[in-house]
Amino acid sequence: MMTDKILQQQIQYYSARANEYDEWFYRIGRYDRGQENNQRWFDEVAIVKDALYQIGAVDDILELASGTGIWTQELLGIGKKITAIDASEEVIAINRYKLGSRSVEYHIFDLFTWQPDIEYDLVFFAFWLSHVPPNLLDSFLTKVNQSVHIGGQIFIIDSRFEPTSTANNHILEDDGNFYKTRKLNDGQEFQIVKIFYQPDELQDKLKQAGFQAEVKMTDNYFIYVLGRKVSTALL
Ligand SMILES: C[S@@+](CC[C@H](N)C(=O)[O-])C[C@H]1O[C@@H](n2cnc3c(N)ncnc32)[C@H](O)[C@@H]1O
Repeated sequence: MMTDKILQQQIQYYSARANEYDEWFYRIGRYDRGQENNQRWFDEVAIVKDALYQIGAVDDILELASGTGIWTQELLGIGKKITAIDASEEVIAINRYKLGSRSVEYHIFDLFTWQPDIEYDLVFFAFWLSHVPPNLLDSFLTKVNQSVHIGGQIFIIDSRFEPTSTANNHILEDDGNFYKTRKLNDGQEFQIVKIFYQPDELQDKLKQAGFQAEVKMTDNYFIYVLGRKVSTALL
C-alpha cells in the first residue's frame, strides 16, 4: 500500500536528516527566513514553552517521536523520568549525546506498530501528529490514551500552515494532498506525510479518544494542545 511505503520513507528521511534536523528549529541555513520572521518564530516558541511549563512537576513522561531532543531537554525540567521513543536510531543517538542524561530512557520503535504497556503522568509529542495519516489517526490516539493514566495529561505541539515555517526550497501548497516532498541540504528528496489538522477537528478526535482537551494556536506557526484523560462518563 502506498501509505506504508511513504511511512517507511518518512523514517528514512529523518534518519538521513538527523545531523541537519536542528537547523529547522533554530532557523539556520535554508530555514533562516529573515530577522523578522525568525523573531516571530522564537516569540511563538516561547509562548508554547510557557504553556508546557504550566503543567508543573510530574514523575513519568512519555515522549513520542522525540527526535534530536529539542523538546526532551524541556521535559527534563518537568519530569523525573522521561521515556523517549523514536523510529530513527540516528536521531536517538543525537538526543542521547546532546542531553547526556540518566533520566531519559530511549527506545527505538515504529509508532505505527508500537503497543503501549505502561500508563504515564504525561504523554508529549511535538511535530509528530502532522506526520500521522488520517486513516491511522484514531488508532494512534487510542494508543496515546492507553499510555496515560486517568487524570494524566497530554501535551501536543505541531505546525500551522505557514509557508515560512519550512525550508526556503520547500513549497508548501494548500492542495489537500498530504504527501509532501522534502529535501536535505544536499538536494536528496523524500516523500513524507504532512497534515495540518484543524483545531475543531483535533478537539473532536481527542474527545473521541477519551481526552478533555483545549486546542490553542499562536499567531502564525504553532498549534498546541493541553489535554487530560478523563473517565468516559465525563466526556
Ligand atoms: C518532525 S520530527 C519531530 C522530532 C521532535 N519531536 C521535535 O519536535 O524536534 C518527526 C520525528 O518522528 C520520527 N518518526 C518518523 N516516523 C516514525 C515512526 N513511524 N515511529 C516513530 N517515530 C517516527 C522521526 O525520526 C523524527 O524524529
